[in-house]
Amino acid sequence: MSWIHSVFFLCLTFRWCFAGESSPEVTDDGAPMEKTEQEALYSAIQGFVGDSWNGSDLYPDPCGWTPIQGVSCDLYDDLWYVTELTLGLVHENSLSCATSLKIKPQLFKLKHLKSLTFFNCFTLPITISKEDWINLVSNLEALEFRSNPGLIGELPEAIGSLTKLKSLVVLENGFNGKLPTSLCNLSSLKRLVLAGNFFTGTVPDCFNGFKDLLILDLSRNSFSGTLPLSIGDMVSLLKLDVSNNQFEGKLPQEIGFLKNLTLLDLRNNRISGELFENVEKIQSLTDLVLSGNPMGNSGDDMMGIKWENMGNLVVLDLSKMGLRGEIPFGLTKLKRLRFLGLNDNNLTGAVPSKKLETLPCLGALYIHGNNLSGELRFSGRFYEKMGTRFKASRNPNLCQYIVSDSQKYVGLKPCVVEKKKKGTLVIQQTWSNLKKEEESSSSMGVMVTRHVSSKGFMWVLLLEFSLIVVLYYY
Ligand SMILES: *[C@@H]1O[C@H](CO)[C@@H](O)[C@H](O)[C@H]1NC(C)=O
Ligand SMILES: *[C@@H]1O[C@H](CO)[C@@H](O)[C@H](O)[C@H]1NC(C)=O
Ligand SMILES: *[C@@H]1O[C@H](CO)[C@@H](O)[C@H](O)[C@H]1NC(C)=O
Ligand SMILES: *[C@@H]1O[C@H](CO)[C@@H](O)[C@H](O)[C@H]1NC(C)=O
Ligand SMILES: *[C@@H]1O[C@H](CO)[C@@H](O)[C@H](O)[C@H]1NC(C)=O
Repeated sequence: MSWIHSVFFLCLTFRWCFAGESSPEVTDDGAPMEKTEQEALYSAIQGFVGDSWNGSDLYPDPCGWTPIQGVSCDLYDDLWYVTELTLGLVHENSLSCATSLKIKPQLFKLKHLKSLTFFNCFTLPITISKEDWINLVSNLEALEFRSNPGLIGELPEAIGSLTKLKSLVVLENGFNGKLPTSLCNLSSLKRLVLAGNFFTGTVPDCFNGFKDLLILDLSRNSFSGTLPLSIGDMVSLLKLDVSNNQFEGKLPQEIGFLKNLTLLDLRNNRISGELFENVEKIQSLTDLVLSGNPMGNSGDDMMGIKWENMGNLVVLDLSKMGLRGEIPFGLTKLKRLRFLGLNDNNLTGAVPSKKLETLPCLGALYIHGNNLSGELRFSGRFYEKMGTRFKASRNPNLCQYIVSDSQKYVGLKPCVVEKKKKGTLVIQQTWSNLKKEEESSSSMGVMVTRHVSSKGFMWVLLLEFSLIVVLYYY
């Protein structure tokens, strides 16, 4: 009995001992591979790195004791197959591509390939549309083209047949033209990055199948048209970056369905209309970047927003949008805020300095290029902390309240402060500032007396304050 078992077991292990099945030739030393697999690997790599590269000589056991940088293998039925291949200069000793290279058909014979990456590989112009991607259909999960200026032309239609893909990264290459609609077939994707190419045209409205997509990055291309409505169907989405394109029209209302979205970057497009109304619903957002989308007549929308409900916000950039009205009070309730960009708008009214200063994480505040007025009343410590990450210049009606001689100037005229006698501080103010002072004076417990000067200005004598100054000076 037992010898039959052993033979049977051996036959299972080495399947090719069964008559009828063609037995592939297997390499004899080290990690066993099908000879055709090993030769396909050598040949595919040689196409990229040049004919002088002799794989069988340099790496006789590529999945065993002579591993090739950028090549990973795995066992299938007791034989080793290439599962990951990275071509191009990633590390010092990686497979750097020759300037004139060939995509050899053997590349598409690596039947267990799961991940294929080209990094800094294609420098001379080449189009890759006619290759045999279809052979990789059953296994390829990750396909990445990063920093290949030579890759030009349209994205090959055949990429849409790689339906097992979980990650498609086409980052900073020379691709142009419209996106193939076959991309719509890639519904297993978790990550789709097409950033930094020269893609044009509209984005196919087919994201309804993309239930697993976590990251969609279309930034830095020349996409136009409106954003597809089906964006709202990508329920798992965490990051949506369409910045630096020519998208226009409204932000689809459906975006409010993306309950897990943490990053929404629409900067530098022409999206307008009810922008704020739509983003208000996404309370998971930590990064909201809308700058450089001229809002036109809806520029005062931001006032109606309940910003205090978006308490997860860490980065909020609303610069260059033509916003009008005052700085919304709700912004001063965003306790996690690190970056607040309101610059280059048409904002008016006072800066809620004291409230903004209480935001514990705030590390960058840009309010320059508006029409804000009154006094900036941040403490010296605040200016120290912010350094160059605070800008308030180009607000002609805004002045900086200076407490001590050592205080940093932030490019605004100082609010007029005169020392009448030694140790007595007299501050010249306009009516509007005075009214503000009145509001806060009761809570601050500062005694304020005032009289009208001959020139018609209100003079305010801060008695307690001058006492502090006196003490400070001695
Ligand atoms: C690689 O080297 C081996 C042995 O050193 C030699 O037999 C073979 O012809 C070489 N192959 C190429 C493509 O140069
Ligand atoms: C995409 O899927 C459709 C049907 O779902 C199919 O007809 C088409 O050939 C596929 N495209 C590619 C490029 O695989
Ligand atoms: C959103 O995130 C939560 C927590 O991370 C997760 O449990 C949930 O499945 C996600 N929702 C979707 C639709 O992916
Ligand atoms: C700001 O608003 C004023 C008055 O409506 C207008 O004249 C000016 O052009 C606007 N400036 C900007 C930068 O939008
Ligand atoms: C700036 O605001 C003041 C009122 O505070 C207004 O009189 C003036 O026209 C505004 N300037 C611009 C350029 O909008």
